[in-house]
Amino acid sequence: MEVIVAPIRREQADAWVRMRGRLGPEWFVSRIDEFVREYFDAGRIDGLRHVVLLATRADGTPIGIAEVSLRDFAEGCGAGPVGYLEGWFVEEGARGAGVGRALVAAAERWAAKQGCTEFASDAELHNPAGLRAHVALGFEPVCDIRCFRKPIRP
Ligand SMILES: CC(C)(COP(=O)(O)OP(=O)(O)OC[C@H]1O[C@@H](n2cnc3c(N)ncnc32)[C@H](O)[C@@H]1OP(=O)(O)O)[C@@H](O)C(=O)NCCC(=O)NCCS
Repeated sequence: MEVIVAPIRREQADAWVRMRGRLGPEWFVSRIDEFVREYFDAGRIDGLRHVVLLATRADGTPIGIAEVSLRDFAEGCGAGPVGYLEGWFVEEGARGAGVGRALVAAAERWAAKQGCTEFASDAELHNPAGLRAHVALGFEPVCDIRCFRKPIRP
């Protein structure tokens, strides 16, 4: 399958919103309209510099997305900036055909152009397919984290 990966254009934002809606997390999805606006206006999401890459079939049909940021710090990495795969999603019908790999390759090229020498990502432990796909693409596991929360009074 021929796949084209390029920075998303404003008129393609619907595909980004739809795929992020499927990927989650809830807090991000609930603010997606704000993030889309900020990205197209300033190249930022939640204040952090980003590129959003869209994968399309040759006929222009969107089939995958990669959101990539520049972080000052990432677990297991040295001094920043570090290219960080914030969101990575391929439509079910297009999986297993190299689209995810093409997105990550383009994401790494973008990060390298920004001066990064390391590229990082994360996946939840209950997502074995996501974990395996990272390893298949050359990511090395660096740590497992359990996150915690508790409510406090203002
Ligand atoms: C993870 C995801 C983006 C991969 O996209 P994809 O287009 O299927 O990936 P590719 O076909 O390019 O595969 C890339 C590599 O990962 C491996 N891989 C992909 N899916 C896999 C799976 N379910 N189990 C094991 N390995 C897998 C492939 O074998 C391939 O390695 P290879 O070239 O050595 O064979 C896609 O499955 C997806 O959108 N999943 C739901 C969202 C998600 O989990 N995102 C990642 C965590 S944030």
